Amino acid sequence: MSKLVIEGSRTLRGELTLHGAKNSALPLLAASLLGDSPVVLTRCPPLSDVAASVSILRHLGCEVVTEGDCVEVRQGASCRSDIPEAQMREMRSSIVFLGAILARAGEAHLCFPGGCELGPRPIDLHLAALCQMGVTVREDGGTVHCRAPHGLHGATVTLSFPSVGATENVLLAAVLAQGETVLCNAAREPEIVDLCRFLNTCGARITGGGEGVIRIQGVRRLIGCRYEVMPDRIEAATYLAAAAVTGGELLLRGAQPLHLSAVLSVLEEAGCALLAKSDTVHLKAPQRLGRIRTVRTMPYPGFPTDAQAPIMAMAAVADGTSVFIENIFDSRYKHVGELRRMGACIKTEGRVAVVEGVKRLSGAKVSCTDLRGGAALVVAALAAEGRTEIDRLCHLDRGYAALEQGLCSLGACVVRQR
Ligand code: EPZ
Repeated sequence: MSKLVIEGSRTLRGELTLHGAKNSALPLLAASLLGDSPVVLTRCPPLSDVAASVSILRHLGCEVVTEGDCVEVRQGASCRSDIPEAQMREMRSSIVFLGAILARAGEAHLCFPGGCELGPRPIDLHLAALCQMGVTVREDGGTVHCRAPHGLHGATVTLSFPSVGATENVLLAAVLAQGETVLCNAAREPEIVDLCRFLNTCGARITGGGEGVIRIQGVRRLIGCRYEVMPDRIEAATYLAAAAVTGGELLLRGAQPLHLSAVLSVLEEAGCALLAKSDTVHLKAPQRLGRIRTVRTMPYPGFPTDAQAPIMAMAAVADGTSVFIENIFDSRYKHVGELRRMGACIKTEGRVAVVEGVKRLSGAKVSCTDLRGGAALVVAALAAEGRTEIDRLCHLDRGYAALEQGLCSLGACVVRQR
């Protein structure tokens, strides 16, 4: 099993260009199923989750060619309506294909995405919304059988929680449906805006992307297009935390500062000097970070749950006590046990984590518990005294492209040992 070996206590300095966003590329790949001519996605990050989505598209009948960060999707004449269990289990977010498969094939048979390291991953909001659009749902032994016997039709759908995935599935089901869909309490994440922009470029008629109410007027067909994936705001947050925790300096290129406002204000509170321009963010860290009073994860534009773990690792060596409240997922503190093995002083109770900053962390052998928990271990290892070995890298490789190369280009000492 390969592992990352990190010699800590080196100051990170330099500049980096962000990759495309994993959490936009995945729904965009699912959406590429809907056009009747080729789609080319550029700045598509070379990640295992993207590879998993490509294999699902091929299974569904598409021809997909990947070259570097460019992915071309040519839809097949027909579209299969199932995703094999192995592929569903490989990537729980494959549920985002549900709406697109229903729109193309009129039915969909997928196994439940199942629980994961963040807790249960229910899809009740997805299914309830689709049922309002003419879908019948039958669950049978862990498989969800969805059918739209009379085709998909518009509806007024209100989500009880602004679920990102449910918003994406409604969008993908609505763009080719009969009539208008009004989606209330929609997720406002930048990845939703990117998906709406992509779909409109393909000929959809969507207004309100990024707002609480999105209107989708169904059209008869969508065409293909060439589209650049938005930059990865969570990759940005991770690299900023890495530079901050080592007392370093970082210029991020290809960033969209507006996407990062909640993260930037937390970094500022910790004592970092930040300069945001149109597509760059510059950070200069203090010698020692100050505590962060309270980090509450919330739906966008609140503090992103995906940045909670890497920012907690940064707070672990801050001067003072920081409090984290995880409001989005039920079980997103799995990384705390591994940070404690490095000397972090963190207590959790339910959704609350109290982080008492220590002067120094020590290198240790630790394991990734999930994607962003793994990022937290990397951030902690960069600040720690001595050597840290991080295994179960399959989690990290889902969401960070060329992580060790990026960190080494900033002066870190990181080696992937096969
Ligand atoms: C997306 O997951 C992201 N994944 C997650 O990023 C991110 O943490 C999350 O949105 C929140 O921003 C992708 O985009 C591929 P949700 P998603 O539906 O769509 C509950 C990462 O690290 N819920 O907004 O699954 C759910 O249990 C990943 O890159 C229901 O109860 O998130 C959770 O507690 C992790 N019923 C909350 O809502 C449902 O039907 C938020 O889930 C759906 C969700």
